[in-house]
Amino acid sequence: MKFLSQEKINEIRNSVDIVDVISNYVQLVPKGKNFIGVCPFHDDNNPSMSVSREKKIYKCFSCGATGTVFKFIMDYENITFPEAVTKLADIAGINVNIGTPVHKKVKSPLYDVYNLSLKFYTNSINTLAGKEAKEYLNSRQIDEKTIKEFQIGLSLNSSDALTKILLKKYQPDLLLKSGLVGKNDYNYYDLFRERIMFPLYDLDGQVVGYSGRIYNKEDTSKYFNTRETEIFKKGELLYNYHRAKDEARNKGYIIIMEGFMDVIRASTIGIKNVVATMGTAVTNIQASLIKKMAKEVILCFDGDNAGAKATISCADELLKLGVSPKVIRLENDMDPDEYICKYGKDKFFDKVNNPINIMDFKFDYFKIGLNLSSTMDLSNYVNIMIKEIDKVNDDILKEVMINRLSKESGIDINVLKDKITIKPIPKKEVLPNVKTDKYEIAQRNLVWFMLKSLKVIKMYDNRITYMPNTNYRLLAREISLFYQNFGYVNEAEFMDYIMEDESLLETLKQINKANLKDEYTMEEIEDYIKVIRDYNIKSETKRLQKQLEDEVSPIEKAKIVQRMIDLKKGVV
Ligand code: UTP
Ligand code: MN
Repeated sequence: MKFLSQEKINEIRNSVDIVDVISNYVQLVPKGKNFIGVCPFHDDNNPSMSVSREKKIYKCFSCGATGTVFKFIMDYENITFPEAVTKLADIAGINVNIGTPVHKKVKSPLYDVYNLSLKFYTNSINTLAGKEAKEYLNSRQIDEKTIKEFQIGLSLNSSDALTKILLKKYQPDLLLKSGLVGKNDYNYYDLFRERIMFPLYDLDGQVVGYSGRIYNKEDTSKYFNTRETEIFKKGELLYNYHRAKDEARNKGYIIIMEGFMDVIRASTIGIKNVVATMGTAVTNIQASLIKKMAKEVILCFDGDNAGAKATISCADELLKLGVSPKVIRLENDMDPDEYICKYGKDKFFDKVNNPINIMDFKFDYFKIGLNLSSTMDLSNYVNIMIKEIDKVNDDILKEVMINRLSKESGIDINVLKDKITIKPIPKKEVLPNVKTDKYEIAQRNLVWFMLKSLKVIKMYDNRITYMPNTNYRLLAREISLFYQNFGYVNEAEFMDYIMEDESLLETLKQINKANLKDEYTMEEIEDYIKVIRDYNIKSETKRLQKQLEDEVSPIEKAKIVQRMIDLKKGVV
């Protein structure tokens, strides 16, 4: 492991109780030596996940998810390995800084600058100077509790109130990089003035920027936002992500809105599984964040035309990832904030409970302004919809849509089908589609038992010259290397050791899905070895036969024949 020593990681893993940690996320009940619970990594209601305190690993018998306490936290909280290790080190009270972090990200000093600015802004809104801002917020039905919860603050009508405070503690150069402070020929000054300050958070909930709203003037842009800095990348975060993610996971769906005011409003009526894109086109990064939060996604953008467009473009980013979102449309160009204020909680819940399918939305949306009894309009519409259907990453849904388009347009279904490419669904790092024949089983099981026993590793090293399946070969090699390095193999340690190699992890997951037992007999292992060797002999013989056919030189031919005879005797 590169950012901390293997020993340190072992120390941290060994000092926390995996059952305690996972219990914070999943209800576990004892069963025999282990604990079982519902696996959070696939859609299920059955307790298919088993946690072993003794082995310090969890495994799901259904989806194959497996790993140590670090892997669990990483996948559940969507954080990196170093972050998960650091988090658990905190819980265990182990100082991770005494190791020699090589890749560990140095925390930007800008976080401190933002923490200080947040104190200043949230304090200011409670002073006399904040009276008008408070009145404005109250007029928008944002009460004290909400102001506190969302850490809403105020920048003062002053050229350098915040700058002066920051300069006492930080170097001017750092402040200029923060996006909070500017500089002219003579002075450093506040970039935000007389605005209600809505903090923007990164994925961990750290304040990294602001959106400042006017409240007592009209002559300038409604919101002024922090520009991008080293800690603030607008396209990589979603407003309210850190608060919404657990709630979304519990409820099974996430609502996406455009503005943070909409999110704050939704929160006041108890909807906490909601994030905002903040008025920009949804990026691929944001789409994957959304996908990770919940299985079902509901887009609830502004009711105006721009909101409809944004719905389409956000949906397309999601569709690329195989997520087919649902859509809520609000009447009279209203945004969720206005809608909730005007019609109340219950009406909005009605909407949330009855979203429409994105494809139904598209069928309606692309008809707007067209007259389908006109030949040109109809053909335009059909062409647009063909493109839309093409974007769908789900064959069944494609089929349903083609049917519908054929009915709507009167065009023969086969003509439409000809125009639509059925692309293979891109999948990440999945094992090649090998049949589970005896060769595959032998390789899979042998790798599994290598993890359980040094004896099997030694047998593998001595007796298998080549493992035909690349994925198993790479994993077997890694196990064997681990053994050579450390002199032993421990499943939990090994899993953390390969933590940064997605494809090895995937192979392990696939093996795990087979739910093999931990015990083995020597005959069994001998049998796997024999099957693999037989396979190698067969394929090598085939190769030599081909070579023999192509070879002209009698001497070379004789060599090949000798080699084939050796093979037959079992000299691989
Ligand atoms: P909206 O104009 O829909 O804002 O912009 P809103 O949520 O309705 O705000 P209120 O109700 O008028 O206070 C949606 C998002 O676009 C960004 C903001 O992030 C906002 O949340 N935006 C909007 C800006 O950055 N600048 C602007 O001038 C306007
Ligand atoms: Mn609004």
